[in-house]
Amino acid sequence: MRLAGKKALITGAGSGIGRGMALLFAQNGAVVGVNDINPTRIEETIALVEAEGGKAVGVPFDVTNFDAVNSGVNQAREALGGLDIFCANAGIAPSADFVDISPEAWDTMMKVHLYGVFNGCKAVLPGMLEQSWGRIIVTSSMSAVSGDKHLTHYSAAKAGQVGFIRALAREVADAGVTVNAIAPGLVQTNILGEVDSEVIERYLPPVGRIGQPKDQAYAALYLASDEAEFVTGHLLQVNGGSF
Ligand SMILES: NC(=O)c1ccc[n+]([C@@H]2O[C@H](COP(=O)([O-])OP(=O)(O)OC[C@H]3O[C@@H](n4cnc5c(N)ncnc54)[C@H](O)[C@@H]3O)[C@@H](O)[C@H]2O)c1
Repeated sequence: MRLAGKKALITGAGSGIGRGMALLFAQNGAVVGVNDINPTRIEETIALVEAEGGKAVGVPFDVTNFDAVNSGVNQAREALGGLDIFCANAGIAPSADFVDISPEAWDTMMKVHLYGVFNGCKAVLPGMLEQSWGRIIVTSSMSAVSGDKHLTHYSAAKAGQVGFIRALAREVADAGVTVNAIAPGLVQTNILGEVDSEVIERYLPPVGRIGQPKDQAYAALYLASDEAEFVTGHLLQVNGGSF
């Protein structure tokens, strides 16, 4: 029970990696706030957590909307009885050639991944600073490090998240709050339906299987734990060796 008594909020937890985090965190004793933009998916994740005897509450909001995130985080804090761990995980990955990416598509990518992280951290950080304990974990991507063709907007946004966590980690390092990111390689989730097959082929992992949400969830579990108090500003690459 590595997260016994902890309260965690996970964005984009109605599916894939976020759902994997919700399940593993609950199995490890946390009560979990399940966010998504899709309410049906939230209910599915809550049912899965509860089926294993865990406790979860639904907190629907769009991570791109500053006011909605702020009130959603307050709602989560009230329902969970506090907030210790925040996973900024919601994401999208529609592939397109750079020449075809419209300014609107560029904006959407920045809004979900950069404004989404900004909005969430603005809402959760004051409470974490006040209690001198907090864990912020952003789901970035190996695209942040290597770049991906057909995903220039996604790669830029994911790399922006890495700059963000490094900077914020320094700012709050002496206040008991760590700020880290994971960089998944290829993971079997719904998002792969949006990704160009060339990118998928390039990332087939040397370990011989495609990644599963639980691989990422275990990395997040470590970063969320007490044991990881000396790890901050770190990008943990979880990719089956496909750097
Ligand atoms: N699957 C992979 O191969 C892979 C690789 C690298 C990084 N990632 C990252 O992992 C994270 C999770 O993705 P996944 O693979 O689990 O995909 P997924 O599609 O299974 O889950 C993403 C979830 O985010 C939700 N979401 C999207 N926009 C939202 C918004 N504006 N507000 C709230 N929720 C929103 C979706 O409804 C969905 O349930 C993303 O940030 C993604 O970029 C995934």
